[in-house]
Amino acid sequence: MLLKLNSIEMRNTFAVVDLTRLVKNYKNIRRKVKTSKVMAVIKADAYGHGAVNVAKSLCALGKAAPEYFAVALTEEAIELRKNKITTPILVLDPFSRSNAPDVIKYKLEATVYNREQLKILDNELRKSGSRSKIKIHIKIDTGMGRLGVSSDEAVDFIRYVKSNSQFVIAGIYTHFSTSDEYDKTYANLQLAKFTSLVNCLRSENIDYGLAHCANSGAILDMPDSYFDMVRPGIILYGYHPSLETSDSINLSPVMDLFSCISTVRLIRENEYVSYGRKFKAGSNVNIASVPIGYADGINRHLTNKMKVIIADKEYPQAGTVTMDRIMINLNNDVYPVSEKVILLGHSKNCSIDAWDWCKIINTIPYEILCNLSKRVPRIYKS
Ligand SMILES: Cc1ncc(COP(=O)(O)O)c(C=O)c1O
Repeated sequence: MLLKLNSIEMRNTFAVVDLTRLVKNYKNIRRKVKTSKVMAVIKADAYGHGAVNVAKSLCALGKAAPEYFAVALTEEAIELRKNKITTPILVLDPFSRSNAPDVIKYKLEATVYNREQLKILDNELRKSGSRSKIKIHIKIDTGMGRLGVSSDEAVDFIRYVKSNSQFVIAGIYTHFSTSDEYDKTYANLQLAKFTSLVNCLRSENIDYGLAHCANSGAILDMPDSYFDMVRPGIILYGYHPSLETSDSINLSPVMDLFSCISTVRLIRENEYVSYGRKFKAGSNVNIASVPIGYADGINRHLTNKMKVIIADKEYPQAGTVTMDRIMINLNNDVYPVSEKVILLGHSKNCSIDAWDWCKIINTIPYEILCNLSKRVPRIYKS
């Protein structure tokens, strides 16, 4: 079912988020990780797909729903709580002092890796008068070099947390920096550090809650890293994290992007199109203009390089990508105003996905999806 928004009638540029594909990707991930729990990573507005709608569609799976959600920011978690998402939520980024009261108020699970953070949460708990304990996940730096207590100091820190009865360790986790690379040497080194920590805690009978470390690359190719829970992000949305992982899970892109032809004009041989005269017509051609530009997430470096699909045929984009508009070289073809333009998606014989853009501008699908701006209405298909 396609929901209609007024703004679509105005510009006819929109993204379709196919929640049936999301659920299919999710179920395929679940099948792959067998008994491990799943923490669905829906930070950055579910990688541009709309966190509330994504969370709701996964929650609707009932018993098969993700056991956890992960977001980057406290604000993102609050948005989910305000939309009645009651699933446990891990906030991956360190909370700020000003966000600490919300961790308690909204029953969020905070990422913690130093004593200062414990002190702040403890103070807030006292101030709130709540008798509940605070659930935390301890982040271990096994080699990402970004956040977390170093793996050498982790056992001591965890023992210290255990001596503070107001905290419950709901999980311990680490994050891979190279699990999406063909060469798994470094990822295996990180895994070995994490495994050794888990074994040490087990041997000392220290309850650490759920151990989790597998992101998309590891879920695809490192089954030894699944532990109690996995944290899929990009594969939920139907993309591999890189071109070096295996195809061990069947995935389909969840988001398609559409616009339409708004004008067509004849550009004569040797005339130019758009800012900077980056396109010069080699012969008389029909140039369509399409109301989507870099303010919507069409990277300017795609200029003269990207393609679109119109009526099951690929056409090259022509001239500098502008803020609100791109131009398409139709050559001698003619289409009426309002003809559908597929920017990401497929027709019977043609297909364009985020990787096609990535190869041109040297990036990853994460960035393409997250950069699709708020101005593009998301239509949810279920
Ligand atoms: C801590 C953490 N876990 C899991 C993920 C999900 O990663 P991916 O999208 O590669 O699956 C991310 C995303 O960056 C992350 O920061």
